[in-house]
Amino acid sequence: MSSAVWRQVVVPLAAAYVLGQQKKEETKAEAKPTAKKPSMNGALTVEQAAALKATAAAMCASGKGFLASDESAGPWLRAGHVEAAKIPDTAENRAAYRSMLYTTPGLGEYISGVILHWETLFQSDAAGNKMVDLITGNGMIPGIKLDKGYDKNGLLGTKVGPLGHAETWCKGLDDLDKRCAEAYKQGARFAKWRNVLQIDTTHGLPSDLAIMECTHSLARYASTCQKNGLVPIVEPEIVPNGAHDIYACAAATEKVLLAQFEALKLHNVYLEGAVLKPNMVKNGLKAPTEEPAVVASLTLATLKRTVPSAMPGIFFLSGETKLDEDNEETATLNLNAMNASPNPWHVSFSYGKALQKTCIVTWMGKDANKIKAQDALLARCKANSEATKGKYKPGSCPSIGSKGNIEMQGGAY
Ligand code: 13P
Repeated sequence: MSSAVWRQVVVPLAAAYVLGQQKKEETKAEAKPTAKKPSMNGALTVEQAAALKATAAAMCASGKGFLASDESAGPWLRAGHVEAAKIPDTAENRAAYRSMLYTTPGLGEYISGVILHWETLFQSDAAGNKMVDLITGNGMIPGIKLDKGYDKNGLLGTKVGPLGHAETWCKGLDDLDKRCAEAYKQGARFAKWRNVLQIDTTHGLPSDLAIMECTHSLARYASTCQKNGLVPIVEPEIVPNGAHDIYACAAATEKVLLAQFEALKLHNVYLEGAVLKPNMVKNGLKAPTEEPAVVASLTLATLKRTVPSAMPGIFFLSGETKLDEDNEETATLNLNAMNASPNPWHVSFSYGKALQKTCIVTWMGKDANKIKAQDALLARCKANSEATKGKYKPGSCPSIGSKGNIEMQGGAY
């Protein structure tokens, strides 16, 4: 940005903001912006920026995180449990399970946003209630997953990584503008796009090409979302598959996040109206596991080097864990350690597997188990809410543990 733009646009707008924009922003969270005045980032109008910022602030409410329920197949296939994987993956079962999740009494106390698959955004429960209405009725904000997954054929000339395929790119940019507008109309106020990177230190993965593709497509997605009134969750996930140590993950994460924020800037993304969903800095699945305190300190050190405090929130994915691990408890303990002292951003959870596994195994496709399954979900959400404040007591949330663990269904989320 030139110094003239800073003087003529940014400084007066910043002053106006301090003098009273805050109040205006809160009341406009739901308004579809139309005014033409440029905002601080020069690309959005003041009204667009204010609405995005207000939505992001609601997503980052104290003690709250996201429920990632946007799995393309039945969530029980991704949960990695031998019995749960047998639940039939039908649209009817997915609707029954997800409407059970969204109507869990009190869930809105711990969950600010729910990420939906396209199917769910337009789906109703057995009684004809729209899923989006169940979510808003329970005090939460609906969001939409917008990437269309990746092609395992990958980028020409890139090496095969520990996932068993070349480095990838996610589909979905072509009709993104249209899909954003449709999702907004249907009630979504934020979005998610996950790109996947792999680590292989001997073959130089993630490669510069894969990092460039990953971060630029995420930035282009983020700007398209903001233009359409959706707060983008930016998710450049580096998967834990492989035998690398935690320092290799720290180095890769730092490199990717530096590239990510440069790309966001290049694409005129308004950081105050966006949030990050990164991997935690961890050892590879085939390397010795580090304690939560080590995971937390290396993750925070990496994030502090790369993520501007203008971005209001960081919401971790839980990721794949070892077969002898209790993935739900591990994710809560890591988050808890991350919040042992104050951070420059809201540091929270956007877990899929790590919120739902015990819930799914309790439910097992039977309506008769609904109340107990809802209790399990609520308990894990409460545990993670406590972890956002560094107040979780290890072992205080019941879970199914590692018994029955099998390889989860991998690939595109
Ligand atoms: P996990 O199931 O690993 O928590 O991931 C959530 C998610 O939304 C990934 O995109």
